[in-house]
Order: sequence, then C-alpha cells, then structure tokens
Amino acid sequence: MRRIAQETINRVLEEVDIFEVISQYVDLKKRGKNYFGLSPFRSETKPSFSVAPDKNMWYDFGSGQGGNAVQFLIEYEKISFSEAIRSLAEKHNIEIIEVGDEQQSNLYDKLYEIHNLTNIFFINNLSSNKGMKAKSYMQDRSFDDTILKKLSIGFATDSWDQLYNELKDKFDNEVIEKSGLFSKGKRGYIDRFRNRIMFPFFSPSGKVIGFSGRSLSDKEDVKYLNSPETLLFQKSKVFYGSYQTMPEIRKQNYVLLVEGQTDFLRLYEKGFTNVLATSGTAFSSKHAAALNKYTNRVILTYDSDNAGINAAIRTGYILMQNGFEVRVIDLQDGLDPDDFFKSPTNDTASFKKLIKDAVHPINYIINKKNILEKGASERSKFLNECINEIKNIIDVIIRNDLIKRLSNELSVAESEILSRFNSAKIKKTVNSKSVEHENTSIEHFSSKAEKAQLEILKLIIHNPELSKNIPSTLFNNKLFYNIMKSIKDHIGKYSNVAQLLEFIGSSPEERNLVALLAVDKIETENEKIILEDCIQALEREQIKKQVLDLRNEIKLIEESGKLAPETLVNKLVSLQRSIS
Ligand code: UTP
Ligand code: MN
Repeated sequence: MRRIAQETINRVLEEVDIFEVISQYVDLKKRGKNYFGLSPFRSETKPSFSVAPDKNMWYDFGSGQGGNAVQFLIEYEKISFSEAIRSLAEKHNIEIIEVGDEQQSNLYDKLYEIHNLTNIFFINNLSSNKGMKAKSYMQDRSFDDTILKKLSIGFATDSWDQLYNELKDKFDNEVIEKSGLFSKGKRGYIDRFRNRIMFPFFSPSGKVIGFSGRSLSDKEDVKYLNSPETLLFQKSKVFYGSYQTMPEIRKQNYVLLVEGQTDFLRLYEKGFTNVLATSGTAFSSKHAAALNKYTNRVILTYDSDNAGINAAIRTGYILMQNGFEVRVIDLQDGLDPDDFFKSPTNDTASFKKLIKDAVHPINYIINKKNILEKGASERSKFLNECINEIKNIIDVIIRNDLIKRLSNELSVAESEILSRFNSAKIKKTVNSKSVEHENTSIEHFSSKAEKAQLEILKLIIHNPELSKNIPSTLFNNKLFYNIMKSIKDHIGKYSNVAQLLEFIGSSPEERNLVALLAVDKIETENEKIILEDCIQALEREQIKKQVLDLRNEIKLIEESGKLAPETLVNKLVSLQRSIS
C-alpha cells in the first residue's frame, strides 16, 4: 500500500490553520484563548465544542472526541485519512509525497480515474447526437438540463463496446475487471451499461465511485442496473446524491429519504434539496451510521405501495434503534414522490404540508396495518412485535417515547407494556455500536495518582521537552502510560500536538484524551513547580504502596512464627521516614 509520507503529513498539520478549517463548518466565538461553538457532531444548545488555535486542536466536550484538523475532516466529512490530507494539502499548495508499495494505491487511483473518465464519457454521450433519445426521455419526464448537469447525469448508448473501446488502451485488465463497468462475455469484455440513463454516485469528496443506469425501454428486464460491489462502491453504505445534498441536510438538520433516483431528482428540482436516495428499499445500519454525522432526523418518503410501506416500517425501526428521530410521509394511492408531482393539483405547498403532517413510525404502522380495527389477540400480537423492536433501541428517551405512544394509541396501560417489555428477551442490534463514540472524560479519573498523572501529561503535551526527566515507571495507568511513551518516543519528530497525534496510532481513547488535555487551560508560568509537585506526589504514592507491601510481607513471616530479616525491617523504616 502506498502511503503519504510523514513529511507531507507534518507539513499539512503545521501549515493548516485549524480555525480556518473548522470555521467553515462551525460558527466559532472567541472565549479566552480558545474558540467555542455548537458541536457539529451532536445537537446541543450550549456550545461545548472548542478549538485551540495555538495547539491546532479541537475537542468536543459533548461527545468526548477531539483531534487535529485532519481528524476533524475525517469525522465530519466521513472521508478517509488520505482524502483528508489530500484535500488540505491541495488547498494549501503542499506537495504530496508518497512512499511505499505503489501497486495497491495505484489500483485505487486507477479505479477512481476509470470512473471519472467513464462519467465524462456518459455526459458527453447525453449532450451529443447519440443522446437525443435519452434527452427527450428525460425531458418528457420533465427533468431539464439544469438538474441533469447538477447531478452529472449521462447516457450509455445501445452498444456492446462503446465504452470498452474508449478505455481499453488506457487501463490494464485488472482495472477493467475490478471497475465493475464491464461484463466478461465469451468473446471478451462488454459494456455493462447499455441504452441507459446513467446516474453517478459520488464519494464524500466528490469522486465518482459507481453508477445506476435506468433502462430507456420499459421492456427491459432490469429497470435500474447498478454497479456491482467494488473496492469503491459498497451499496450498504452509499446514498444517491449525498455529495450534492449533504451540506443542505446538515443545514436544515433533517433529510427526506426516498427510494430512487427519479424521486430524488423530482424533490431536488422542486426545491427540496435536503434529499437522499437509497438504491431501492434496502436500508442498513451502515447507512444509519453514515447519516448520523450529518443529521439525526429523517423523514421517510418511500413509495406508498406495499413494498414501500413495509420498507418504511423496517427502515423506521432501524433508524430509531440507531438513535434517530423519524417521521413518515404517507403519499397514498401507491404513489412515489415523482408521481405525486404529476398530479396538477399538487405543488410544492402541498408537499410542504405533507412534511408538516408526517407522522411518527408507530402511528404510521398502526394506521397502515389498521391495527385499531383488529381484534384483541391481533392487537396483543402487534404489541409484542413492537416490544421486540423497542428492545433494540438503546436511547432511553426514544424508547420511553415509543412506550408512551403505544400506550396512548392502543389504550394499554404503560405498566402493562413495561412488564411485557421486561420479560421479553433482549436481542442485540449488530451494528448498534457503530454510531456510538469512544467517550473520554476526565471525571473517570478520580484518584490522587490518576490526577497527578493527568496533570503531568497535560504539561508535557504542551511542552514535550519536559518529558525527558520523567521516568515512565511513574505511570501506572495503561492509557496514560501509552500516551507518555508516544510523546517520549517521538520527541523531535513533531513540533506541535496536532502532529504528535499522528504518531499516537489508532487508539481513539488515547487521541481523544490528548485532544482534551491540549485544549485545556494551562499555567505555563509555574509549569516546572507543578511538574515537580506531581512527580513528588506520584513518588509518594508509589512509596506508600511499597510500604504496604513490605508490611504485609513482614506480617506473613511473623505469623509463621519466624523473625523478619533485619534488612526488610530497615527498608520499611527508611521508606516510611522518606515520606513522613
Ligand atoms: P422503483 O421501481 O420504484 O423505480 O424503484 P422508480 O424510482 O419509480 O423509477 P422510475 O420512476 O420508474 O424511473 C425504486 C428504486 O429502486 C432501485 C432504483 O434505485 C430505483 O430508483 N431499483 C429498482 C433497482 O436498483 N433495480 C431495479 O430493477 C428497480
Ligand atoms: Mn417512479
């Protein structure tokens, strides 16, 4: 695997101004030396997100996460380490130096490149003579040029090898094969997408990673043909349109989730630009985890046919189990969002009303399944089904809300629901952890020794030179010890905390603690004295422990009827004297 050279990483972390990076996303106000703003990772009313420009670090007191500018982009934009470094380096004109094995990263680069060229090729098809049929198809469906451009929509002609001929000399077979853009027939490769409107999917940083192609003829077996799973394209995680709409979703703090590309286009074109589409109705916990960074509020706007209704119910539960607030729009009569706007009586105002009237998933289910008209045993069965789903909801508030709702709607006492709830078996959601955070809080560390170790860590994070005179053996907490060791081991290789973080490795716990200590206030005037005090305190703690151990040893010997050796007793006496 090819890696970005340490010197490039160091330069990025030195030259990039963290205030500049983060203030693009978060409204920051100065308070003392640091800046504060509302956490971009949680919804909150009191600012608990802080940025320390002098350290080039951030820390979010709400979620317990922190780090440098690169880690902020990784968390916020959901991009990879190398994408984050590249994006920052590009903006600051820093040359990217790479080291290591060329082949693997070459394959990724080549896959991005082949997708990029393919996308340009499809777009050109659509605007050329070959694309006239496709263009008029889209026009007939009232999708105009503006929206086609905005989403980089293209066209694959009705040919077996138009794309293959275009690309075969530019890429070797491995790339052709792994791109998923071709199928291997008896006589070699053929284009996978033929006679289809092509909808590209983008990575969070705006690179094409896959396609969905809508057949132009309704006779075709497969209406929408998608890219297969590739190194770049994983269906369980991607949303159609996310690159274009994530900023708006974040701004409005909710998303309209639809089933398909044309529903997406319709809402987008009507001005509802906080929309995302899953490809069809399969929504996974991974989707929830990806969405969680942008908003935790979802309005499901699935088709109102049977498949769509069932999918809305399933997705509703998955979302609630992952801590989302969910509402469901009922389009009725089997319509999808695109169909909805075909009716001359429906306009943006009527859709806004649907948004306003969107209901809680529980009410949606009860309504759609006519639960209230059913007999007692059916209703009881329904209640048990709900309880089994609620079992998997981690968030207590969401859970209680659901129980209240069920109680109200079904006219069953909350106590009855709770007692059924407590006797039901707990099923664990597989991916529930994926949206939780590693929380580091100083309050966890309450002993005198831990506090002294934290204070020392804080001092040496601010001034690594100080670590030279501190014996690592002073640290008996593994987390602290590891951080201390990283600082000592890499001294001279970094010039600020932000860079140090890149040596700390993959432990989020260590990283978050370093970030927390870095943004914390510090008294630099008396740092030597404070350090001395802490070291002394820790040494005393250690001696106290030795004294205890010695006493026990001596006691054991004396209990067996022997006399404790003089050396032991002397040692005990001198240790006790040293701390009295
Ligand atoms: P629909 O069948 O509801 O299509 O599938 P649609 O969105 O109404 O499409 P139009 O309006 O006829 O063009 C919803 C979504 O399911 C996925 C696609 O993402 C589609 O947009 N799908 C559907 C597939 O992936 N493959 C298919 O064969 C059909
Ligand atoms: Mn449709």
